[in-house]
This record gives sequence, C-alpha cells and structure tokens, in this order.
Amino acid sequence: MHSTVTATVTAFSFLLAICGIFFYFLGIPSIVEKDITAFRRLDNDAGGFSSWKEALIPLQFNVYFFNVTNPDEVMQGKNPVLKEIGPYVYDEFKSKMEYTFDGDTVTYMLQEKLYFNEKLSGCRQEDDIITILNVALMGTAATIKKTFPMGITYFNQAIPHLFLGKNTLFKGSTVREILFDGVTIYCNSTAMAATTVCKAMVNYLPPQIRKLENSSNFAFSLFYNKNKTATGPFKEIRGIKNISNVGTTIEYKGKLHLEVWQENSTCDLVRGYDLSALPPFVNPQMNLQLFVPDICSALHGEFTGEGKISDIRVFRFTGDT
Ligand SMILES: *[C@@H]1O[C@H](CO)[C@@H](O)[C@H](O)[C@H]1NC(C)=O
Ligand SMILES: *[C@@H]1O[C@H](CO)[C@@H](O)[C@H](O)[C@H]1NC(C)=O
Ligand SMILES: *[C@@H]1O[C@H](CO)[C@@H](O)[C@H](O)[C@H]1NC(C)=O
Ligand SMILES: *[C@@H]1O[C@H](CO)[C@@H](O)[C@H](O)[C@H]1NC(C)=O
Ligand SMILES: *[C@@H]1O[C@H](CO)[C@@H](O)[C@H](O)[C@H]1NC(C)=O
Ligand SMILES: *[C@@H]1O[C@H](CO)[C@@H](O)[C@H](O)[C@H]1NC(C)=O
Repeated sequence: MHSTVTATVTAFSFLLAICGIFFYFLGIPSIVEKDITAFRRLDNDAGGFSSWKEALIPLQFNVYFFNVTNPDEVMQGKNPVLKEIGPYVYDEFKSKMEYTFDGDTVTYMLQEKLYFNEKLSGCRQEDDIITILNVALMGTAATIKKTFPMGITYFNQAIPHLFLGKNTLFKGSTVREILFDGVTIYCNSTAMAATTVCKAMVNYLPPQIRKLENSSNFAFSLFYNKNKTATGPFKEIRGIKNISNVGTTIEYKGKLHLEVWQENSTCDLVRGYDLSALPPFVNPQMNLQLFVPDICSALHGEFTGEGKISDIRVFRFTGDT
C-alpha cells in the first residue's frame, strides 16, 4: 500500500492536476430531532440507510490539467509555459459493498463509478489532447525504482523502446487516455534494456499500471482502477451511541494511520466524515472534516455563508486543505 500511494502521489505531482472537490449540504431545523436521529443512524431498518449504501446523487469530480504549450522549447532549456485547462467534469457515484456491523461500527468496501458529464464540461471533451510530462514514463520509473532499484540503470536505454516517438519526456495524450484508457507502455521490443524493465514491472504493478489484454504491452492511467475495483475496507461509526459521530471514518485498509505522511502526525491519522454520511444537525461552528482517500488526507470545510436551495436554508462549507 505504501508504494501504491507513493506512485499515486508521484503521478499527481507530475501531472500537476488539481482535482477540486466542492461540497455543500443542507442544514435542517431540529424540530424532529428524534426522528432524524433514527433515520440517519447506520442500520438496516433506518430510513436513510439505502442512500448510504448507494448514493443517488453523484458528487462532482473536477479534473484540471496544466497544458505545456511549448514542449520543444522546454527540451532546449526554456521555461515551460503552462495553461490551465478544465474542468473536465465527472459524475462520481459511490456505493458500499460487503458491509458488516460490529457494535457501533460498520466495515465496508467502496466502489466508485465515474461518468463524463458533457454538459458541465462545456466545450471540453475527453479526446482533447493535453501535453504534460509523460506520466506513464514517470510512473514506470517510480515502479522500477521501488521494486527493482538496479533496473533503473537500464531505464534510460529502455525509454525509446517503451515510449515510441522522439520527445518522450513530454507527451500529448487524450484526457481519456491519461485518466482511464491508459497511455501505452510498449513491451514488444526485444532490446535487452526494454525486456529487463518490462520483466521487472510484471512482478509488481501499482494500480495505475495494468497489463493490456492479448498484448505484451502495459498501460498507465490515473483512474482506470478507481472506476473498476472497490477500495477499502473502511471502518466508520454507525451513530447508534451518538448520532453526531455517524459517518466518522476511523480505519482505512485495516489501519488507524494512512502511513503516507509523517509517522504519528495528525496528517497521517485516518479521520473525517465519509462524504455520504455527514451527520445531521450541522452548525456553522462545527469542525467539518471529510476523509478523502483519493488524496490520502482529510479536507477541512470552512463555513462560508448561508444560502437557499429551493427555499431550503443551507449552510455552505468550502473545502480548504
Ligand atoms: C495543449 O498544448 C498543445 C501544445 O503543446 C496543443 O497542441 C494542444 O492543442 C493544447 N491542448 C488544449 C486542450 O488546448
Ligand atoms: C466506468 O465504468 C463503467 C462500467 O462499470 C462504464 O460504463 C463507464 O464508462 C466507466 N467510466 C469511465 C470514465 O470510463
Ligand atoms: C511495437 O508495437 C508498435 C505499435 O504496434 C509498433 O509501432 C512497433 O514497431 C513495435 N515494435 C517492435 C520492436 O516490434
Ligand atoms: C483476447 O483474446 C480472447 C481469445 O482470443 C478474446 O476472446 C478476447 O476478446 C480478446 N480481448 C481483446 C481485448 O481483444
Ligand atoms: C456526541 O459527540 C459530539 C461530537 O463528538 C460531542 O460534542 C457530544 O458531546 C457527544 N454527545 C454525547 C451525549 O456524548
Ligand atoms: C509513533 O507511535 C508509536 C506508538 O505510540 C511509537 O512506537 C513510535 O515510536 C512513534 N514514532 C515516532 C516517529 O514518533
């Protein structure tokens, strides 16, 4: 898990992509407090349980890229000229599977499904070509460095075989390739350097690299796996003892710590509400933290004002890391 996360973080930093997650939710007057409490706790016969299992309203997953507009000049030593492009908007549906109750906690696996939202993406399409640092190259290098450090000496020689074309450091790929379909890593060459790197990779594939079917090649993408396989397990509080704690994540992958940030630091603690189980009776003073496994961290929500949605009074909280 450690190296998986490192690969994710590496991929993110090289991609220079920012995923913005904005959220807001409803504040409910506490007249029917008792009913709401019974409705919202995580239990088979609680009215709100089906929407915890299967979120009907998608979250918006916004992806931004920094397009390198002068890759050839950068290769000659000039500074890159970056242009932010986005958002590419995806609807993200979350569902919980294989849940089991244990006292006041529930353990489950999370399956996410992403669908491109053409309307909200405006003029941006999934086949737009973006020039960024070659994420597949960086991902492969990171994998080899982790699993077979000696292999890294072959890596430079292997690059022209693994990534066809002349400027292999910057690569134009479609948004869909970078995020889901994958940028191809060619393993059909018989050159020694290439076969060494390819063999080393087979033994340990991070979630971002997968072997392509009926082919010796691999593909690197950021979210193919997110859309395909469930993650977890997550353990969170059911809110039976105290409804204010419903949805608080207390363990991820069987651990209290993420093991990504500094050991024993607050950053490294698994903490924050599950997005689909925010507690009832939210108030502006509340310390609203959300657990976001995508970035191995908790996001803090800052109260930024009141508003109205369909005549219902709402509190708006805005994410700030
Ligand atoms: C990104 O920059 C490249 C030049 O490096 C350009 O060809 C491409 O059209 C740009 N992509 C978008 C979506 O603007
Ligand atoms: C995610 O997977 C579903 C099928 O499980 C598919 O219909 C959908 O197109 C995939 N999303 C993306 C963005 O590839
Ligand atoms: C590997 O496959 C690519 C794409 O199919 C092809 O262009 C290339 O020539 C192949 N390389 C070798 C050494 O066969
Ligand atoms: C791979 O090969 C199998 C058997 O020949 C075939 O059924 C399958 O459709 C192929 N998959 C792809 C992605 O081409
Ligand atoms: C319920 O939990 C909240 C938040 O952790 C805490 O402030 C409150 O005192 C608790 N209530 C009871 C009755 O323990
Ligand atoms: C973290 O906490 C554990 C258990 O309390 C302790 O054994 C370990 O030495 C701590 N690590 C650091 C770096 O403080």
